[in-house]
Amino acid sequence: MKLLRLSLCLVISLLFAGVHAQGQKQTSNAAIEKKIDKLLKKMTLEEKIGQMCQVNISPKATEVPQKIKDAIRAGKIGSILNAGSPDMIAEIQRIALNESNAKIPVIIGRDVIHGFNTVFPIPLGQAASWNRELVEKGAAIAAQEASEVGINWTFAPMLDVSRDPRWGRIAESLGEDPCLVSELGSAMVKGFQGETRKFAACAKHFVGYGATENGKDYNPVFIPINQLRNVYLPPFQKAIETGCATVMTAFNDIDGTPASGNEFLLKQVLRNEWSFKGFVVSDWNSMTQMKSQGFCADDKDVALKSANAGLDMEMVSTTYTNHLSALVKEGKVDLETIDTAVRNILRIKYQLNLFDDPYSGLPNNVTTLCSQHKQAAKAIATQSIVLLKNQDQLLPLSSNKKIAVIGPMADAQNDQMGCWAMDGVADDVVTPLTALKKQFGANIKYAKGIADCRTNDKSLLSEAVNIAKLSDVILYFGGEDAILSGEGHSRAFINLPGAQEELISTLAKTGKPIVLVIMAGRPLTFNKAAEKAAAIMYAWHPGTMGGEALADLITGKAVPSGKLPVTFPKTLGQVPIYYGTLRTGRPANWKMLGIPTGTPLDPVGLSNNYLDVSVLPAYPFGYGLSYTTFKYDKLKASSNEISKNKPVKIQVEVQNTGKVEADEIVQLYIRDEVASVMQPKLALKDFKRVTLKPQENKTVVFTLTADMLEFIKRDGQVTYEPGSIKVFVGANSQELLEVKIQAI
Ligand code: BGC
Repeated sequence: MKLLRLSLCLVISLLFAGVHAQGQKQTSNAAIEKKIDKLLKKMTLEEKIGQMCQVNISPKATEVPQKIKDAIRAGKIGSILNAGSPDMIAEIQRIALNESNAKIPVIIGRDVIHGFNTVFPIPLGQAASWNRELVEKGAAIAAQEASEVGINWTFAPMLDVSRDPRWGRIAESLGEDPCLVSELGSAMVKGFQGETRKFAACAKHFVGYGATENGKDYNPVFIPINQLRNVYLPPFQKAIETGCATVMTAFNDIDGTPASGNEFLLKQVLRNEWSFKGFVVSDWNSMTQMKSQGFCADDKDVALKSANAGLDMEMVSTTYTNHLSALVKEGKVDLETIDTAVRNILRIKYQLNLFDDPYSGLPNNVTTLCSQHKQAAKAIATQSIVLLKNQDQLLPLSSNKKIAVIGPMADAQNDQMGCWAMDGVADDVVTPLTALKKQFGANIKYAKGIADCRTNDKSLLSEAVNIAKLSDVILYFGGEDAILSGEGHSRAFINLPGAQEELISTLAKTGKPIVLVIMAGRPLTFNKAAEKAAAIMYAWHPGTMGGEALADLITGKAVPSGKLPVTFPKTLGQVPIYYGTLRTGRPANWKMLGIPTGTPLDPVGLSNNYLDVSVLPAYPFGYGLSYTTFKYDKLKASSNEISKNKPVKIQVEVQNTGKVEADEIVQLYIRDEVASVMQPKLALKDFKRVTLKPQENKTVVFTLTADMLEFIKRDGQVTYEPGSIKVFVGANSQELLEVKIQAI
């Protein structure tokens, strides 16, 4: 039986993962449109509006509430989120198909954000792998496990470019860079949807949510149109080009118009410019919140503005149910608007094959948490962990070392899964303590040292110091509990919370070397702890298999290869800090490590510095160490001219100059030196993960095409301008070789 389960898991995994490579473009085929025409003719206005309504069933409910059964029967529900058990989902579909007039299946949505029962690293962690294939595979596995209980639709990927570590939802993001977010977001869409599209993805939150002012969730944003076009929109465009079935509107406004009532975004950009053929869903109450935002007077006004802006489905709130019919009768919303929205929704239901196979996957629970899924979770966790420091090659540790394992995240099954892991199974999480015990046996001694990451209670400290004194090395696992990041969980301080810094200082006094392993949902500031530590690994919240991944890295069975998808500040005062800023007229001296108070003004040169801290971050975007070293050399362009139909090959030699085989993530950046609209001082354009044996030298080749040099003007016009382009290749955004080419 076990064997059968394993092989089924393998076959189904291959079906979901293997054929995905191409994704699906936005399509509308004639046969489906005909079926929709027929259906629309049969449907009453109320049934049409019903398709535009999504209701919530509490994840804890054990049966479908009677009110909801009646509403499905009456054709008043198009979608349900958080529907609970497979039996409930089967019941929902049975009523919709057998007992309603129009016989339209319900689309079942859920937040399957970074895995389902098998939990992968938080998206910010996955982004640190810079590995398109593994990210795609993770999404495919999540979709497969979720499909097995009857879920058809996830509210992921989150494509909000995120540049403020105070924002709790940075954990759910793919980092600060439009290119990295676009590439990995597109990989997620491919993974979730597969070639056959049995499962729908949702690009959210359209758009600009990541720019929330001062990092406080639900704040307004301030995004000038050039930034909107070139930083915040591109990941969504790429997702749409990849075939993403749905889009979710953001809570925030863009230039005074909330996203859920924003015709420019929903019609002009999504439909006219990008030819989006799927449907748009609001966020949870994001429509009714337009009243608090001072944009709508009452619920009727909400329904009016959302429907006319092009918002197809309302999540949770009920303004469409209660007011759309009257608005159509009053001539304020055209019937055509309703028909278009319903058509968009039905198109996806047909593409998901829900009419013919509404129970897809039900109820054969065969692959969830199977060993292949766990191995995939381990693979990406291993590649997502970033080595930030490794003084005197302290890591990896040999197995005869006596180790003191200390800290609140050493054995924290639930917290290790991070935010948005609602279907994660804590009992299945392998913690570092469990995994290290397997590898080091009796050489491991464990003391928590502090009850959780947030507390200031130091009563457990002495026990930790005692085991530290008896050890050769201290492995400290700390950071942030899962609850400190995610939606509505922003922080005004991004330091190591609670008494952790103090605990680390006390441990340092034992004179034993400290390896700091940080699990967190955001970049933290931890300068003092970093100074005291001999080695630092940043592990994000690494999910079900995070412990095994960490143990393999700590013992050298695996070699660290993750690179930061987001800049780490030295101090909160530097925030927002990201590598791709526009250029200042008075650039700072990068070497200047802060200016001592009292220094006369002149020597400072009135440049773009702080008086009290360097302009450099703690760790730059793209940074991450290995157990080996890499040498970059001989950067060359195949031609010093690039044009519309003449791409340029950029090649560099990368050599593994150390003693172990390892992966390196080679990064390609450009700077457009002069343009009619100011361009960032550096912009990532491509990246490659290469594996190099000790001493091996590989030539890594990128193809730079003219469209990679394009930018988008305020009016959406894609622009290519001749001029001088600097091309950079290197190991991170601060260590780069450079070559110049001419765009003609
Ligand atoms: C979040 C969305 C999520 C939705 C449904 C909202 O509060 O902003 O990202 O998909 O809830 O759970």
